[in-house]
Amino acid sequence: MRTVPGFRFVTQKSMRSLLVTGGAGFIGANFVHYWAANYPQDRIVVLDALTYAGNIANLSGLEQNSDYYFTHGDIADTELLSSLFAEHKLDTVVHFAAESHVDRSIHEPDAFIQTNVIGTHSLLRAAREAWLGRDDAPAIHRFHHVSTDEVYGTLGADDPAFTERTPYSPNSPYAASKAASDHLVRAYHHTYGLQVTTSNCSNNYGPFQFPEKLIPLMIVNALTGKPLPVYGDGSNIRDWLYVADHCHGIELVLTEGLVGEVYNIGGNNERCNLDIVNDICRRIDAVFNARPNLAALFPDAPAASGQQTESLITFVKDRLGHDWRYAIDATRAETELNYAPQDNFDSGLDRTIDWMLANESWWRAVMDGSYRDWLKKNYT
Ligand code: NAD
Ligand code: DAU
Repeated sequence: MRTVPGFRFVTQKSMRSLLVTGGAGFIGANFVHYWAANYPQDRIVVLDALTYAGNIANLSGLEQNSDYYFTHGDIADTELLSSLFAEHKLDTVVHFAAESHVDRSIHEPDAFIQTNVIGTHSLLRAAREAWLGRDDAPAIHRFHHVSTDEVYGTLGADDPAFTERTPYSPNSPYAASKAASDHLVRAYHHTYGLQVTTSNCSNNYGPFQFPEKLIPLMIVNALTGKPLPVYGDGSNIRDWLYVADHCHGIELVLTEGLVGEVYNIGGNNERCNLDIVNDICRRIDAVFNARPNLAALFPDAPAASGQQTESLITFVKDRLGHDWRYAIDATRAETELNYAPQDNFDSGLDRTIDWMLANESWWRAVMDGSYRDWLKKNYT
């Protein structure tokens, strides 16, 4: 591993004070649980606007930790950011907060520009004000920006996987807004010396993923007997990573990564969408066979009456500008940070299906709006 004196992160035993933006979302919540379990000495401050994708229930259990704080607010709120930096003496930002769904960005791009571009810039500005040129600034700080492989555009069948040197070529409003935020993070390092790192990751799946994304949507629809909508011919390819492996990759970038650098994180696990959907269908059939009690719990699932779940597969109109293939070359993280995913797709997908079966109340409350009603009453 390369090291640059003065640029390595604080050692693992030092206490940190982390701001985790978007910590009530899918990956952010997994990261907060991961970090609280592995670094119990650290302060964790979650800042989340609780948009449709944020869910306070994703963080339940953490209120037992004495040094955990949740703030309901927007990353574009500069006054709030200044007060959080001052009050908690933050030395680390792990920035997940974003509008993250490509289909929504196609229909309503404005929110993506507001949060992903303007919001990220507000956060960078607040970090710069708190950390650079002040006597009371922490000696070492880190702004870690969580980004996506979508900034690199799309690949053909024989193209090499994306490396950190692949030119940016974002195709959707979502990808373009993430690309803009990556460039701002880079510029704050180059221009002002902010100690930043960026990770660009492939498609995640696992607990707490909002059921508008491919894998959780297919599981929920299979259990409730609804069509499984496959865009186009289902040949599009994504590179899938179990979310805990992404969290571990971010941990390695924070603890071992070099300031100013970018690391690609992926799963070496390319699959086309139709194969994924078929795989989910087969696993759901198998789990209903193995656990007869599921039929009574999910009577609308085809598997409850011995039908094949794949009968629900429905080909629908393709996504506009649909990227055909993503694939991550994670060689840099593997060789320099010792990164290696622990879960393969079999174990990760089984775990995800088990989690969805065990957490029916979580996804039902998200889907039927009762979680939003509860939120309105409890978080104004
Ligand atoms: P998500 O949509 O599940 O969660 C986003 C969270 O950000 C939510 O809790 C939401 O309430 C919060 N948020 C949105 N706007 C906010 C604002 N203005 N201020 C404060 N909080 C706000 O997203 P995710 O899938 O967990 O993705 C997290 C990050 O990881 C994103 O930056 C995304 O681009 C990136 N990423 C995601 C994937 C993936 O497969 N999901 C892969 C690579 C990178
Ligand atoms: O690659 C990383 C990106 O992965 C992240 O940056 C994004 O935040 C995340 O949403 C994800 O983007 P995708 O567009 O790849 O994920 P999604 O789950 O929306 O779709 C995965 C594939 O499945 C894609 O080719 C579109 C297809 N699809 C999706 C849905 C929701 C369907 O065929 N049917 C569907 O209903």
